[in-house]
Amino acid sequence: MNAQTQIDAPVIPQPAALYGFSLERTAQSDRLLELRFSKTTVQAFLEAVSEWPVQALEYKSFLRFQFGKILDDICQGSLRPIVVNTLLDRSTGGLLVVPEGLDNVAQAEDMVKLSTAVAHLLGRSNYDAMSGQFYARFVVENIDNSDSYLRQPHRVMELHNDGTFVNQITDYVLMMKIDEQNMEGGNSLLQHLDDWQDLDLFYKHPLARRVMRWTAPPSKNTREDVFHAIFDTDAVGRPTMRYIDQFVQPENFEEGTWLFQLGESLEGSSTKVSIPVPVGSFLLINNLFWLHGRDRFVAHPGLRRELMRQRGYFSFPKVEHHRGQTSN
Ligand SMILES: [Fe+2]
Repeated sequence: MNAQTQIDAPVIPQPAALYGFSLERTAQSDRLLELRFSKTTVQAFLEAVSEWPVQALEYKSFLRFQFGKILDDICQGSLRPIVVNTLLDRSTGGLLVVPEGLDNVAQAEDMVKLSTAVAHLLGRSNYDAMSGQFYARFVVENIDNSDSYLRQPHRVMELHNDGTFVNQITDYVLMMKIDEQNMEGGNSLLQHLDDWQDLDLFYKHPLARRVMRWTAPPSKNTREDVFHAIFDTDAVGRPTMRYIDQFVQPENFEEGTWLFQLGESLEGSSTKVSIPVPVGSFLLINNLFWLHGRDRFVAHPGLRRELMRQRGYFSFPKVEHHRGQTSN
């Protein structure tokens, strides 16, 4: 079975009008759309869900979907089609979601609630082995002793896809900024696969379909190796990718040197999008044709950044498709 099968055409008719939010292109990319919730919408949502703390979302997974419905109802049903269709549309596939008035770390719980609601209009967020929850919050500080580049400030985190070393479908990635202090630099970096100049060169190479071994460092809490090729195709034959430089384990000289070239090409790409994500906002991208990374930032003793992520799979009613193993 193809673990990267991508649902193709939009499944929900576009709404006649938008309520409670606006949608426009970001200044940085025509492919990345900014979805901005008005303050009224954000407040109405938070009020409607005020009886449930984030812990209730952790304990009862159906509540995550109900949060999505509550938010979509406030937007008179116009939100879900926009989120779903944008994420599935190959020409876009990415959102910067900006909830007005949600911009302080003291509102971290509210941020988790709102982003969970949006993600669960699309599908279901996977179990995150790092946190033991369906989401993970983590802090980046000036000093770090971790075993991957995830939290190391002074380096670029290279472009990659998520979910490369787990046996879970990872159709979407949500990355939220919860806090940021004394930060200079550190923009999110995004690369749409179709804008990468060398895509054909690598996608058509014999090693593109070579099954490789993927293994994660101890902090990821996943002990099992995973085996898959870097490239695949979606339901209509377009390239998709599952790649991360740190966790692929080439078997030989041929694979190792090809992977080096691939990494160099991605890092040298001139079509990368560099985008600042304000506190309280989040990126929601299609993980199969967008790669993501993070630019370096300037050292500062008081530097603090807190992030939240969710990774999950698309799931829509009445559309038959084969999916791989999913989470609990
Ligand atoms: Fe990532």
